[in-house]
Amino acid sequence: MRMYDLITEKKNGRELTGEEIKWFVRGVTEGEIPDAQTAALLMAICLRGMNEREASDLTEAMLRSGEVADLSAIPGKKADKHSTGGVGDSTTPVVVAAVAACGLKVAKMSGRALGHTGGTVDKFESLPGFRSDLSPREFADVVNRVGAAVIAQTGTLCPADKKLYALRDQTGTVDNVALIASSIMSKKLASGADVIMLDVKYGSGAFIKDPEEALELARLMVRIGERAGRSVGALVTSMDAPLGRAVGNLLEMYEASDILHGNADPEKLLVCRTLAADLLFLAGMGTKEACGERIDRAIASGQAFEKLCEMIRAQGGDPAMLRDPGRRIYAPFRREVRAPEDCPGYLVRMDTERIGICAGILGEARKNPEDKVDHTAGLLIRKKTGDRVSPGDVLCELHTSDPSLLDEAERLYRSALAFGGRPARRLPILFASVGPNGSVSRF
Ligand code: URA
Repeated sequence: MRMYDLITEKKNGRELTGEEIKWFVRGVTEGEIPDAQTAALLMAICLRGMNEREASDLTEAMLRSGEVADLSAIPGKKADKHSTGGVGDSTTPVVVAAVAACGLKVAKMSGRALGHTGGTVDKFESLPGFRSDLSPREFADVVNRVGAAVIAQTGTLCPADKKLYALRDQTGTVDNVALIASSIMSKKLASGADVIMLDVKYGSGAFIKDPEEALELARLMVRIGERAGRSVGALVTSMDAPLGRAVGNLLEMYEASDILHGNADPEKLLVCRTLAADLLFLAGMGTKEACGERIDRAIASGQAFEKLCEMIRAQGGDPAMLRDPGRRIYAPFRREVRAPEDCPGYLVRMDTERIGICAGILGEARKNPEDKVDHTAGLLIRKKTGDRVSPGDVLCELHTSDPSLLDEAERLYRSALAFGGRPARRLPILFASVGPNGSVSRF
């Protein structure tokens, strides 16, 4: 086979065979294909697309490019959830705790911050002592004893995706549905869970801006997962404004704890509850209604919060800051950003990607992989799209350990907002749900 032929075939809109895809992924993994040719094929895929069979073959080939987790030491069904990435997107601590409190085991491998989006592992590691580098034995032991564990994805999982993602990042070929679906699903399938719930984001803070395109991505990911023999469902949810009110590692862990204590941001609670209930449903633990009621009871009784603390302790962490709000620590430097004097009355748009970058500037993100993050850095959002705003109202609070970052962050935050004289319609937080065989229900 020759890369030249694969590129030409895809450029002319032809399907690639399973053998061609396998050969390409093996060549990328072994470093045998020049980056220029790989990038050319990625661009041809972006322009011509891939059908479900090709995307499944690409997923399978990337999943086989490295280690595949062996969860056989954990009896019974193992669940996982995954978000395609967002800002203020700390649903994992709530969902994991709630479903584990209902008796469904969660064995979750998570990533770190990517671009403007936060990372689950960074959020958990903001708690003192928390270890996300458990060995496979420790991981299985915590899941068996506690019912849930969240660890960092190992570097040996899907090396082909690592190489392809880096090239996509440099060549403007990230935002293609087939490439995103195979990138995410190869890692999810390699992580070994039997039941997988996906939260596919759309809007100004998501990789995919358009809800219908996000729905196409969700359906494709569900079908890829089903072809691989797993139970997979998806929700399509809005990231057109940050989810909840907190952005930043520790701030989001506090917000997750508030949700589990019943002091909830209603939209964030709705996303968490629906994801958790759908996971129980996918695992065969009752009707959607009954699963929703079980999740409500787990949260209201405090069992879900206790499960979160138990998991954090089992992974070496100290949940005291979650248990006792008096022990919460905050960044030493904070600044309120206030509405301008000529504010015409309403906040009509938030550029959520910019808000994510703003949290990164304040210290939430790494510039280089080896950088340390400022876990206290981030934002508390006081006004969201659709809210009435008077001149001088507090729009958000910026938090950081380095006061020299505040001016740039404030400038960026202001540039992310648009005001108007009439209330804007906020896009629905739940857009659609995808079930067996890619079936769609719209909310
Ligand atoms: N996250 C991934 O892991 N891959 C993508 O392609 C996009 C988001």
